[in-house]
Amino acid sequence: MQAARLFDVSGTVSLVTGAASGLGLAMAEVMAENGARVAMLDVDAGGLETHLARLSKTGAAVEGHVVDVTDGALLKRTIGDVATKHGRLDSVFANAGISAGPGFESEVGHLEAVDRERWDRVLRINLTSVFETLQAAAGPMKRQKSGRIVVTSSIAGIGAEAPCGYAYVATKAAVANLVRQAALELARYNVLVNAIAPGPFRTNIGGGQFAKRPDSEAMWAARTALGRVADPAELKGLALFLASPASSYVTGTVIPIDGGATAD
Ligand SMILES: NC(=O)c1ccc[n+]([C@@H]2O[C@H](COP(=O)([O-])OP(=O)(O)OC[C@H]3O[C@@H](n4cnc5c(N)ncnc54)[C@H](O)[C@@H]3O)[C@@H](O)[C@H]2O)c1
Repeated sequence: MQAARLFDVSGTVSLVTGAASGLGLAMAEVMAENGARVAMLDVDAGGLETHLARLSKTGAAVEGHVVDVTDGALLKRTIGDVATKHGRLDSVFANAGISAGPGFESEVGHLEAVDRERWDRVLRINLTSVFETLQAAAGPMKRQKSGRIVVTSSIAGIGAEAPCGYAYVATKAAVANLVRQAALELARYNVLVNAIAPGPFRTNIGGGQFAKRPDSEAMWAARTALGRVADPAELKGLALFLASPASSYVTGTVIPIDGGATAD
C-alpha cells in the first residue's frame, strides 16, 4: 500500500485537548495538514484564537473550543457536541497537561515540601481530565465501531525522572495504565487506545523553561542519546501514525518518542 493511503486521515474528525501550544498544537496541525477536521480545545483563549486564524488561512478545517479540562461537565459536553455536529469522532488526543514543578533535585520538590494544592491540581489536569476525555470519546466511537484515542504520557511515566515533580511522574505513569485498561475494554469495538511517552520537547510547559534557562535545556539534552531536545514538529509523524490506517494493529501500547532517553 502506498504511504499516502496508509497515512490517510482526510475526511476524518479529530479532537485535541491542550491544542493551543506545544505538542497539542503539533497534533492539531498534522491532522489538519492531512485533511482532517480538527476541534482544538484549550483553556488559553488567546493562543487558540491566534493559531486558529493562522491555520484557517491555509484552508485547514479547524474549530476552537475554549475549555478548561478541569471542568469535566464542559469537557464531556464539548466532546459530545463535536461528535454530534460532524456525525462522527475518529481520533481524540487527550494531551492537555501541566508540570508539577521541580523534582527532588530542588528543595521545593522534596517529598515533605510538596504542596497538597499543587498535587491535587496536577492530578485533576493530568489524570482525571484524561479519564474524562476517554469516557466522553468512548460513546461515539463505540457506536461507529472505530476510533483512535492517543494519550500524552511521558518518559516520566516509564521510570523515575529526578527533574520532574512527584505529581507529574505519578500521573504520567497512571495514564499509561489507564490506556492499557481502556484498550482491552474498547478493542471489541475496534477502538484503539495508545499512549505516547515524549522525552524533552521545546514547548511552553513549566513556563517554557528551555527558552528561559539554557542550563535546563542542556541538562535534558544530556539525558537523551541524541544529545538534544526536540522540536514539537518532530511529534507529527507519530501522531499521524496513531490516527491513521497504518497503526490498525497497534493498541494498548506506550510508545516512547524520546531521542533514546529510555534506551539505557
Ligand atoms: N514538553 C515536553 O518535554 C513533554 C514531555 C513529555 C510529556 N509532555 C506532555 O505533553 C503534553 C503537552 O504539553 P506541552 O509540553 O506541549 O506544554 P505546553 O504548555 O506547551 O502546552 C500545553 C497546553 O495545554 C493547555 N492546558 C493546560 N492546562 C489546561 C487546562 N486546565 N485545560 C485546557 N487546556 C489546558 C495549555 O494552555 C497549553 O496550550 C502534556 O501532557 C505534557 O505533560 C511534554
